[in-house]
Amino acid sequence: MALEIEDTTELVEIILRSYAPEPSALIAMLQDIQRDCRHLPREALVRVGEHLGVPLSQVYRVATFYATFSLEPRGRYVLRVCDGTACHLKGSGLLVEAIQRRLGIGPDETTEDGLFTLETVHCLGACALAPVMVVNDKFHPHLDMSKVARIIDAYAKG
Ligand code: FES
Repeated sequence: MALEIEDTTELVEIILRSYAPEPSALIAMLQDIQRDCRHLPREALVRVGEHLGVPLSQVYRVATFYATFSLEPRGRYVLRVCDGTACHLKGSGLLVEAIQRRLGIGPDETTEDGLFTLETVHCLGACALAPVMVVNDKFHPHLDMSKVARIIDAYAKG
């Protein structure tokens, strides 16, 4: 379920209070907000800049540089499917298509219920496990169509 703006604002204020107002805390603070809010709302970036004394343009530069950050709400579960060379040779392209059909979304899109976001990435550094995807922080190795279906069903059930 998407967070109400009041909840998001409160979460951001709690995170702000947990850090000393030093510019070196910028990335860690953004990571916390991304984790708890599942994206970086504009209001949060403004508050981070104010709290740390960092220009908003610099906060945006960091927020848009790292793939781990998103300015748009992401799903509770982010499926990062590797389509690097090793995974591609073992059929990751077909897996991505199957996931798209199953969830009704394309790459970089989020399901309407806010549960899943699909991303494709280039090499997760685990080529021996190809084809592989990461759901949030959990690796799922040696995928095939039926494994992908079971994994998605398990996350959908919570
Ligand atoms: S190509 Fe997929 S993990 Fe390296």
